[in-house]
Amino acid sequence: MEIIHVSAECYPVAKAGGLGDVVGALPKYQCKAGHIAKVVMPMYRTKFLYENEWTVDFKGSANLGSWFFEFTIIKEATNKLGFDLFLVDINGLLDRQKIYGYDDDSERFTAFQIAVMRWMSSWEHQPDVVHCHDHHAGLIPFMMRYCYDFKNLAGVPSVFTIHNAQYQGWMGWDKSRYIPRWDLWKRGMLEWADSINPLASAVKCATSVTTVSHSYMEELRFNSNGLEKLFDYERGKCLGILNGIDNEVWDPETDKYLADHFSVKKVTAGKQKNKEALCEAFSLDPAKPLFVFIGRLVGEKAAEILPDAIMSSIHYTEGAACFLVLGSGDTSVEWRFQQMTEPYKGSFNAVIGYDETLSHKMYAGADFLLMPSRVEPCGLNQMYAMRYGTVPVVRSTGGLQDTVSDMGEPDGFGIRFNHATVADVEYSIGRGIAVYRDKEQMEKMRKHMMQVDHSWESTVDEYTAVYESLR
Ligand code: ADP
Ligand code: GLC
Repeated sequence: MEIIHVSAECYPVAKAGGLGDVVGALPKYQCKAGHIAKVVMPMYRTKFLYENEWTVDFKGSANLGSWFFEFTIIKEATNKLGFDLFLVDINGLLDRQKIYGYDDDSERFTAFQIAVMRWMSSWEHQPDVVHCHDHHAGLIPFMMRYCYDFKNLAGVPSVFTIHNAQYQGWMGWDKSRYIPRWDLWKRGMLEWADSINPLASAVKCATSVTTVSHSYMEELRFNSNGLEKLFDYERGKCLGILNGIDNEVWDPETDKYLADHFSVKKVTAGKQKNKEALCEAFSLDPAKPLFVFIGRLVGEKAAEILPDAIMSSIHYTEGAACFLVLGSGDTSVEWRFQQMTEPYKGSFNAVIGYDETLSHKMYAGADFLLMPSRVEPCGLNQMYAMRYGTVPVVRSTGGLQDTVSDMGEPDGFGIRFNHATVADVEYSIGRGIAVYRDKEQMEKMRKHMMQVDHSWESTVDEYTAVYESLR
């Protein structure tokens, strides 16, 4: 089948979080399974753009309301990612340093989607499925069905995958003029709560809707930032498919960023070497259990409870554990972590920013990974941690609930808690410190979790089954 993925992120081209990882891996494994999967995304000014070779695939023009723009679609020349990668260049609009966070993001991603539609509708053939990811690609299912200019795509099935329903891409009705000539009777298919809501529109218009874990699919009907009724109404076409991880990128036996490589057999010694290197770099004591947090410092991740949970754990255990944080996001949380580094030197350190290399070193060198998330559609961090023998300490929600079992259960290997509160996190850290002293139990849990299969190879078929059902 020919599958066109439309996304704002794709690793290693541009990544802000898990969406990038998924769109960088799923198509690769779909191609390995015999499909023709392609990715089309905006052309940002990234390192990947400048370090690779490109050919021009298409040149076109379109209107965004009264603004006329020209665009070029370039293709990576060597197929180095294992799938065809296309970038949409719109001068002045998409070619910026960051992926998101500009005042004109609505204009940027609407223009991107219009360019993708012009490009696909210019083909002599039609793809088997158009697979859109998150709200930045959420207007495509509507445009495929109801824009007069794209009538030749009206019969092509679309799949919409929700990676995060917190962000919906809301736009005022004044921006409806951006969308190329459309059937005005279908206004309701764009709308939710009096505005244009690209995420809601995609849920209404896509032929099938998926999200990235079974539990999150259930949660959306009760907690989805205002869309609860919609998910309840549309539940017949919605399905949860747990994300996989790219075992080629995340492999402790070959990972180029690690101080020492290790397999399941050598996990204890291998992790210790990585931990020593990490602790040395951050002035922490490698003899103590090391807890890390890697991620966006935002409310969804309950990052703001971590400073208090960490400080009180250090006080009450008299410094029995060490902590290392890597992340960026809310400036108040960044500031609190920065303020803690000096007074808690030797027990705590933080890197504020985004650092892919350091994240690999942390998954490998840590003993425990903290994820107190309030909302976690899937979560990839805990799966990477497991692959590197690091015990996940997670709140029971969404994908965390579907992938981590508590060490109190038969064959359990993680630590789970129920509330995103300082008390629950502190208590769970205490459980971690206690189990760390039991070397045999730690080794057993590490070996067990490293062998849990979260590869894309075993997940790709679930997407294929969805596509097949739409033909
Ligand atoms: P989300 O997409 O909600 O942020 P996920 O758990 O799905 O959460 O994926 C997060 C991805 O981003 C992981 O690959 C994680 O390692 C990476 N990541 C998050 N923050 C950072 C950071 N500050 N530096 C490096 N990698 C990060
Ligand atoms: C989102 C979610 C995260 C998920 C990722 C990839 O960013 O917040 O839980 O793992 O997308 O699907």
